[in-house]
Amino acid sequence: MSSPGDSRFVDAVREAADLPGLVADYVALKKAGAGKFKALCPFHAEKTPSFHVDGQKQLFYCFGCGLGGDAFKFLMLQERVDFLEAVKLIARKHGIPVPARGGDTRGEDQVLFDINEAACSFYRDQLHADGGAEARRYLLHRGMESATLDRFQIGYAPDRWDGIKEHLRRRGFRERDLLRSGLLVKKEATGHTYDRFRNRILFPIRGLSERCIGFGGRILAEGIPKYLNSPESPIFDKSRTLYGLDVARPSIRSASSAILVEGYLDFLTLYQAGIETVVATLGTAFGPGHAKILRRFAEGVVVNFDPDAAGASATRRSLDILLEEGFDVRILRLPKGEDPDAFVRRKGGDAYRGLIEGAPTYLEDLIQEAAGKHQGDGPKGKLLALHEVLPFIAKLESSVVRLSFAGPLAEVLGLDEGSVLEELRVALKGRKSMLRKDITEPFLAANQAECNLVRLLLENRDFRQEVLKELDEVDLKGSPAAGLIATVRKMEQEKEAVTYPGIHQRLAGEEDRNFLARIASSDQPLPSEKEGWGCFLALRQRRISRAMKGIQREIDKGRGEVNDLLKQKMELGKELEKLAHGPSRTMAPLGASH
Ligand code: UTP
Ligand code: MN
Repeated sequence: MSSPGDSRFVDAVREAADLPGLVADYVALKKAGAGKFKALCPFHAEKTPSFHVDGQKQLFYCFGCGLGGDAFKFLMLQERVDFLEAVKLIARKHGIPVPARGGDTRGEDQVLFDINEAACSFYRDQLHADGGAEARRYLLHRGMESATLDRFQIGYAPDRWDGIKEHLRRRGFRERDLLRSGLLVKKEATGHTYDRFRNRILFPIRGLSERCIGFGGRILAEGIPKYLNSPESPIFDKSRTLYGLDVARPSIRSASSAILVEGYLDFLTLYQAGIETVVATLGTAFGPGHAKILRRFAEGVVVNFDPDAAGASATRRSLDILLEEGFDVRILRLPKGEDPDAFVRRKGGDAYRGLIEGAPTYLEDLIQEAAGKHQGDGPKGKLLALHEVLPFIAKLESSVVRLSFAGPLAEVLGLDEGSVLEELRVALKGRKSMLRKDITEPFLAANQAECNLVRLLLENRDFRQEVLKELDEVDLKGSPAAGLIATVRKMEQEKEAVTYPGIHQRLAGEEDRNFLARIASSDQPLPSEKEGWGCFLALRQRRISRAMKGIQREIDKGRGEVNDLLKQKMELGKELEKLAHGPSRTMAPLGASH
C-alpha cells in the first residue's frame, strides 16, 4: 500500500468500519430492530428521530433531511473532512496502519488541526517547564489536581511575543496557516505577526472528534480581559462547541442528562469532583447550535449559570432555546457570590450533587422568580408575574399537567385559582394559532387508506406489481401519495430496485419526502394484502364518487346531453356497486366499462 488513497487500504478500512459504533460516538442511538437504530439527526434540527442507521447494510439515512451514505460519508459530514481524512480517522480508530503519504495533498482544514495539536503539546510542555512555575502555582491555588491537568491537557503560553510563532515555524507550518488558526495575530499597520496567547493558562477546546479546535486562555491572577479565546476558524465553530463535551459525552449519555455551566474552571472543578455529566459554554451565549448538539446525548439539562445579573439573563435565554429542542429543563441557582467552582471547593461535590438532585423544574423556578421579582408591586405586580409564567404553561402539551399548575401558581402569587384558570384559557387560545400548519397539514391530508396502500406497495413486491397494474393516475388525483407512487412506478418500469433511499433520492418535492418519511417511520404492523386491496378499493370508490358528483354538476348546470350524462352516471353507479360487492382482484380497469 503506497498511499492513503490506495484502494486496498480504503477497502480494508471500509471492512473494519462499524457504522453504528461510529455514529454512536456522536448521537444517542435507539435500537429499532435487528442491527437497526434510530436517532435524532445530527445534520438537521428535529425532535423525533428520522435518522436511521442500518448495521447490516452499513448505511445511514435521514428521512428528514435526506442525507445518507456510508461510514466515510458520515464522518465527512460530521467532521467536515474530505474523503481521505475520513478514511484515515476510521483507520486510526481500528488500529489499521495508515500508509505514509505519497504526494498526499493535505486539506486546508487538516493543517489547522495539525497546528492546534502541535500547539497543544507545546503549551502543555511550557506549563511543566521552568517558565511555567507561576502558572502551576496558580492552578494549584485554584484546586486543580495534576491528574486533571493531564486529562484536559492544560497548558501555559509563555510571556513572549514569539513563543508559539517560533516553535511552529520551526516545525514547518506556514505563517499564513498560523494566522488562519488564530494562534498568531497580525498588526495591520506594520504587517508584523505575534502570539495571541501570552502569559495565560490555556484550556484546549476539543470537538466531538476529540481533536483540538481552539483554546481558551485565562490570565494569571487579575487583568483584562480575564479570558481570551481562539477566534472562530474553519474548524472552530463556537456556535456548535461546548467545552468538555468530548470527555463528558459518555457520562452524559448514560445519565441522559447534563449540567450546563458557564466557565472552563467550573467545568474542571466539577469534573474533578466526580460530577462528570457537565459541559461549559465558551464565553459565547448558549445558542440553538449548542442545544442541538447536547440533545444528541441528553434529554435533561440542569442549567447552573452564575447567580449574577448576566447569569440570570443568560439562564432565561437558554431556557427558551432548551425548551425549543425538547429538553426537560431544571434550573439551579446558587447563592449570590457563588459559582459552581467556588461552591464545590467550599462545600464539596456531595453538597453540590444534592443541589443538582433537588433543582426545581424550569416552571417551578419561573414561578418563584416571577413572584420574587414582582413582590410588593400590588395587584398589578401579581398580574405581571402571572403573565411571565403563563406562556410557558400554555406550551405544555397535557391539559392535566397544565391545570396542575393553576393551584400552586395561584398560591405563590396570592391570586385565586379561578382567575388563574381564566387567564390560562386566554393564553391557550393564543397558542393554538401558533401551531405550525406546514408540518401538520400534509400528514393530515393523507388518509389511512393511502398510507396503508403505500406502505404495502413499498414493502411487498408482489403486491406492488399487482396493484400498479390496477391503479392509475386518476385514482390518485389530488392525493399526497401521487408523486411517490408515480416514482415507484417509474422505478419498476426501469427495473430499479425499490428501496427507501432509492425512492427518497428520486423524490424532488419536500412534501413527497415528508410523506415517505412518515410511511417509513410507521410503527404500525404492516397491513395484509387483503387490507391493501381494501385501500385500493377505497381510492377507486372515491374516484368514482367524485366523477359522479362532477356529472351531477354538469346536469345541474344544464350542460351537455342530459341523457348521455345520466347514462354515464348510471354506469359509474354500477361500477361502484360492483366494487362494494364483487371480488376485488378480478375487476376490469375502469376505462373499459364505458
Ligand atoms: P467568569 O468571569 O464567570 O469566569 O466567566 P469564571 O469561569 O468564573 O472564571 P474564574 O473562576 O474567575 O477563573 C465565565 C466564562 O465566560 C467566558 C469564559 O469562557 C469564562 O469561563 N469569559 C469570561 C470570556 O470569554 N472572557 C472574559 O473576559 C470573561
Ligand atoms: Mn469562577
